[in-house]
Amino acid sequence: MLSAYVFDAYGTLFDVHAAIDRHRTAVGADAQRFSELWRTKQLEYSWTLTLAGHYVDFSKLTERALDFAFARFPSVDRGLRAKLLEAYLTLDAFPDVHTALTGLKSRGARLAILSNGTPAMLGSAIEAAAMQGLLDGVFSVDAVRRYKPRREVYALVTEGLGIEPSDTGFVSSNRWDVMGAVSFGFKAFWINRSGAPNEYPDQGPEREIPGLGELLQAAL
Ligand code: LAC
Repeated sequence: MLSAYVFDAYGTLFDVHAAIDRHRTAVGADAQRFSELWRTKQLEYSWTLTLAGHYVDFSKLTERALDFAFARFPSVDRGLRAKLLEAYLTLDAFPDVHTALTGLKSRGARLAILSNGTPAMLGSAIEAAAMQGLLDGVFSVDAVRRYKPRREVYALVTEGLGIEPSDTGFVSSNRWDVMGAVSFGFKAFWINRSGAPNEYPDQGPEREIPGLGELLQAAL
């Protein structure tokens, strides 16, 4: 049994589209595309700024990406800005999260989150999902001021928990994050909820599963 399981936050534990879902009627017909662009731009900014040697925290990137989405979809009411950002702080946890976390914990694994989110964003989401008691660590890229998939980010976990990469399960629904985790030496589990095509053939996961509900069976 691996001694620790580390989870990505956004998209893996928390549903990034829940903010738009809560205001879907008000957002209107472009809600789906608006939500996807918001997420795409948020991640793009994290990669491009890191490549250029800059750091702006994830809370600000989330705002900037939202503003880009408003500019791209003028039909969406900008009056929703504050409500959407507020909803992002308490995104819904996916329904299979609690079973997976409690199951691994009862087998003796230590559990942690490693995320691009700021400590404040993560604290708020974890509290809303009543997840505090299950976690042995919450690691934010904010500590190293650069984003995934930089190695320094994944090293926060091994240094923070005092464990070897090869003794750590890393769980993410983001295939590019799995690529980074595998490059670092983690044993990665790709949660492929949408049946997305595989990518990064040179940095494949240990296991690919359709949801966190399958994690206990797949656990090493
Ligand atoms: C995170 C990003 C990948 O939570 O959403 O780190």
